[in-house]
Amino acid sequence: MAKKLKHNIELTVYSSLDDLPSKDKELVLRAKEVSRKAYAPYSQFYVGAAIRLDSDEIVEGSNQENMAYPSGMCAERVAIYYANSHHSDQKIESIAVTAFAKRFDVTDPVSPCGACRQSMAEYELKQNQPIRLLMTGESGEVYIAESIETVLPFMFNEIELKNE
Ligand code: THU
Repeated sequence: MAKKLKHNIELTVYSSLDDLPSKDKELVLRAKEVSRKAYAPYSQFYVGAAIRLDSDEIVEGSNQENMAYPSGMCAERVAIYYANSHHSDQKIESIAVTAFAKRFDVTDPVSPCGACRQSMAEYELKQNQPIRLLMTGESGEVYIAESIETVLPFMFNEIELKNE
């Protein structure tokens, strides 16, 4: 385990999945498992996301594509929207993201897209507690960010839109 700055983002880097603390390893394995259920006939890039709730329960999501391409949804948002639909009373402790592809090996850790970061960041604000982000590819290094804010500084945050 080592601390590293990548793209100016502070990450904890583990050289392999086997080096992770057992609960984190379990979460990544669940993300890998659910990536096999992704519906990704167009990109053939199969993403899995697993969320650990405060209760220790794990909920998951995988990417769901559509022939009308923009109608598809990333795995992270499928998972986080599911979590907030079914367990809005619980805080999210961690989210693990991984992927495999048909046409190439995913050797680098999978880093969530901007829209997923914005979505996850909102739940982090809502729960007033950091959400840890675990990222890995098919094998190799695992990166951990201690919060979503770490990977999305200066997020869009217009709290007045709540209009309360
Ligand atoms: N995808 C995710 O599920 N998560 C991300 O953070 C980035 C991309 C999906 C969307 C699409 O189904 C496929 O990966 C290729 O972009």
